[in-house]
Amino acid sequence: MKSLNKVVLAYSGGVDTSVCIPYLKNEYGIENVIAFAADLGQGDELALIRQKALDAGASESLVGDLIKPFIENFAFQAIRANALYEGRYPLSTALARPLIAESLVSVARELGAEAVAHGCTAKGNDQVRFDLAIGSLAPELKVLTPARQWAMSREETIAYGEKYGVSAPVSKKSPYSIDLNLLGRSIEAGPLEDPFVAPSEEVFAMTASIKDAPDEPQDIEIGFESGNPVSIDGIALDPVSLIRKANLLAGKHGFGRIDMIENRVVGIKSREIYETPGLLLLIRAHQELESLTLSADVLRTKVKLEMEWADLVYQGLWFSPLKEALDGFFDRTQIDVNGSVKIRLHKGNAMIIGRKSNTSLYIENMATYGSDDNFNHKSAEGFIYIWGLPSRLWSLAKLRKNLKN
Ligand code: ARG
Repeated sequence: MKSLNKVVLAYSGGVDTSVCIPYLKNEYGIENVIAFAADLGQGDELALIRQKALDAGASESLVGDLIKPFIENFAFQAIRANALYEGRYPLSTALARPLIAESLVSVARELGAEAVAHGCTAKGNDQVRFDLAIGSLAPELKVLTPARQWAMSREETIAYGEKYGVSAPVSKKSPYSIDLNLLGRSIEAGPLEDPFVAPSEEVFAMTASIKDAPDEPQDIEIGFESGNPVSIDGIALDPVSLIRKANLLAGKHGFGRIDMIENRVVGIKSREIYETPGLLLLIRAHQELESLTLSADVLRTKVKLEMEWADLVYQGLWFSPLKEALDGFFDRTQIDVNGSVKIRLHKGNAMIIGRKSNTSLYIENMATYGSDDNFNHKSAEGFIYIWGLPSRLWSLAKLRKNLKN
């Protein structure tokens, strides 16, 4: 391969992406490795991460503040889609990848780089998401994946890095692999690889244990406009503040932990622990408001397409024609998803206790059992006669046939 002059690397500050820097220079012969770190609200000290990339030999080290687009264009789209992969995982990690890919591509174009690179390994979903997103956005760019090619053990990787200015992890090495951002934390590996072993309390950082959660329940109200959450307890909040507030409220009451076996894109099952308090709370509330404001047939159709949407996003197809078409459908359904939902947070639960909307399809004098009932009771009989006709005819035909035999 003709050696490349300039490559933009997606940089997290972890061992693998740090070792990618000298590795790309030495083994791939690349002159300029430009590190790009994304701020997704993970709370890391980004100035330190920036410096770490320079120490490892990066020719430039950039930090992109992506928190706002992450929440506005990715998290909120997922809330509108009620996206839960395999019915449970709200895609907190998966949603970040297409955004990071998008930024990598735009930095590469701006700086005239011939390739981008990432430090994902060969067994995970994130490599799929990066590669597919970059391929859709910039088919002309090469994607270099050193950590997928090198055959180094963990120890060898650390030793390789130490030779070139990448310090070994300082703290006693945690057995877990953790990905985090403002939407939540994904925890795997170590003792969790045995699916029967309960997660120890130390893996959690955003949610209280049931034991430590307040004894008193707390009722909150989440307001929505056109499917987007806009307020908590009547106070209007911008999207990022709203997610932060939802994280704090749900987290304090121990809501938002998930322990599941999931099916990865590469075909293996893996055990994952998630904590996504705010996102899960907002999806619950949003689903509830849709039950009040969407017609039965739209709801049923949407539920099926939500599964499709979650699969696409999990599997790395954020930038794809089907995903775009589904967004078009979802956007249309959200016009009348306005109103608010009341939720009781208590000891790991988020119970829906009320909902209201100016665009509600709930008609009280249709639903009521009281005297102001407007429902035409006489029509029920004729309706049921015709609705049940096919099964009665089917039964009759069987009976006749049995009589003949
Ligand atoms: N399995 C999750 C996903 O594919 C999260 C993986 C994140 N990585 C980690 N080190 N836990 O979205």
